[in-house]
Parts: sequence; C-alpha cells; structure tokens
Amino acid sequence: MLGSLESHVGTHTSLAIRKSIHMSRAKISVIGAGNVGATCAHWAAAKELGDIVLVDIPDKIGVAQGKALDLACCGPTERFDATITGTCDYADVAGSDVVIVTAGIPRKPGMSRDDLIATNVKIVRSVSEQIATHAPDSTIILVSNPLDAMVYTAWKTTGFATNRIVGQAGCLDVARFRTFIAWEIGCSVEDVVALLMGGHGDDMVPLPRYTSVHGIPVTQLLSEETINACVDRAKAGGGEVVKLMGTSAYYAPASGSVQMAEAIIKDKKRILPCAAYCDSQYGVGGYFVGVPCVLGAGGVEKVIEIDLNEAETALMDESISHVKDLVGTVRETFPDLA
Ligand code: APR
Repeated sequence: MLGSLESHVGTHTSLAIRKSIHMSRAKISVIGAGNVGATCAHWAAAKELGDIVLVDIPDKIGVAQGKALDLACCGPTERFDATITGTCDYADVAGSDVVIVTAGIPRKPGMSRDDLIATNVKIVRSVSEQIATHAPDSTIILVSNPLDAMVYTAWKTTGFATNRIVGQAGCLDVARFRTFIAWEIGCSVEDVVALLMGGHGDDMVPLPRYTSVHGIPVTQLLSEETINACVDRAKAGGGEVVKLMGTSAYYAPASGSVQMAEAIIKDKKRILPCAAYCDSQYGVGGYFVGVPCVLGAGGVEKVIEIDLNEAETALMDESISHVKDLVGTVRETFPDLA
C-alpha cells in the first residue's frame, strides 16, 4: 500500500505519510525484560496500545531482543500493528508516553517485599536517571517492589511532577480480590467491582462497603466471614504465587500495569486504585500511597477522597505509617534521596 502511494505521490510525501502513521501511535517503554516486563509488553501489544520498547541491561540484551522479536511475530495472528524493540540502549525510550518500570529483583520463597529494598532502590534510581534524560515528558508507572519505596525513589531521582509518577499495586490487589469474590459467588469476575486502598498486600485497606456485584452490595451476597477470607487471600495472593512457583507473580501484575498505561494513553479518565502522591488527602502529608485516582492523559489527574469509617481510617493510618517507615529506610540508606 505504501509502495503504491510512493509511486503516485513521490518518496517525500510517502515518508511524511509513514511518519504521520508512526506518530499517531503511542509509545510505551517497559524497563526490565524479565517476567513482569515481558508480560507487560505482551498485554500492551495484545491491546494494540502502541509501539513498545523493551529495555534490559547489556547482559540481557539477547533476551530483550529475542522476546521483542518473538512478540512482534504474534502481530499477524493476534492482529496488532506495533513496532516492538528489544534494547539495552536507553536512548530508544525517547518520546515514550508511558514508561513502565519492572527492573529489579523479584521475591523468592520466604522473602517479604521489603527485603528487596536495598537492591531495588539502586536499580530503580539508575533506571530513573535514564528515564529523566531520555523520556522527560513521559509518565512513569512503577511496578518494582517494595512499591511504595520505589515510587518515592523514582520521584526523587527524576524530579518529575507528582502527577507523572504513579505506582501499580492497587490494580493487582483489587483484581485478586474481585477474582476470589467471584469464585465464592459463582458469578462473572466482570460483575464484581471493588475498591482497596493503602499499601501492597499485607498493608491493604479492604473496603467491602465499597464492593458490589453489578450494583448489589457484596455484603448482601456473602457472609462477613467469607468476605474476610477473600480479603486475606488477596492480601497474601503474591506470597501464595511465590510459594507455588518459587518466584513472584507476573501475569496479574503486568495486567494491572497495562490497565493503567491504557487509561493514560487513551485518556480514559479511569478511576483506579494507584500509589499516588497525597499531601492533604487522607492526611498523608507528602507520600505516595494507594488511593483511588483518576488516570488520564495528565497521569494522575485527581486523587479521590472517599469517606472512611473509624476502622477503615485506623487501617489506612497504619498503612500510611508503614509507607513512611519504608521511605525513612530509603532516606537513611541513600542520603542523596532524602
Ligand atoms: N535496567 C533494565 N533492566 C534491569 C536493570 C536495569 N538497570 N536491572 C535489572 N534489570 C532487569 C533484570 O535483568 C531482569 O531481566 O529487570 C528484570 C527483572 O526481571 P525478573 O528477574 O524476571 O523479575 P520480575 O518477576 O519481572 O519482577 C520484577 O517487579 O513485581 C515486581 O517484585 C517484583 O521487584 C520485582 C519486579
């Protein structure tokens, strides 16, 4: 098609057409071509969100390139058009609309997310420096754990406006909670709408009051005991997978991350639970914590404040205090990030 256009309108015009076609696509870079990163690229390609760049360290260049090539060859069958690049050169992320950061070590059995902090702060700091240099207009979605500390590290390192740094944890935790609720009811997972706040996993603030099944409050369909069992399983969901596989989950974390990327790229104004910067909201005082946000082209366009009862407020305060402790550890260990 472009070839025949070329013969009619000349090379220069056809290049302009090509460029305009190319430029009409969004660009998503994924840092870390491991389990979570490669799966993010997979979901993003399947949803045809745009061109994709998969970045890893020079030692893994073959892996990043190989996964990019393998994924690109799904295009004809899965019906997506996208340029998919595997690289270790951060210059390739230039012009990204969204950068998803999955670089870092995952948990092994017996480890908590917090055990990853020292290694992953160093990795996320160096990755963030590269993003600030090469994709200064992007919105960054952090996935590496411990999430709340990684979002802080990326913010401090890049100096990006707070609306353009956001962490993925809530989308995953909510998806797990919705899955377990649907299994208990025996209904479609699509019909379960839920909200959770606070930190990732153990620190989550469950909100059964804000959970419904196609408009029916979940409290009318399941006993308190069953809802609590679903909350507990969602809290420990990451650990359950680590125990089974010997490494951390990747399908659902990647799916949650791409859900956020899609909201930003398509300016959908979705309301999703994300780790977002809160100052006066919920009395947080300048930290990134899990709250419901409006996600659109402007990144985190709004933090939504909902009413919490006494018990929920107590859990939220506990969660915020854990985020402060984690950030305190980052500041003590890496004074340049204070
Ligand atoms: N730049 C780019 N990639 C990097 C860098 C860096 N500076 N440092 C490490 N990586 C890459 C690794 O080489 C590896 O390929 O990050 C990738 C991580 O992949 P996995 O080891 O498969 O880990 P994964 O399961 O994907 O988890 C990554 O996401 O959900 C979180 O807790 C999880 O912190 C972990 C992160």
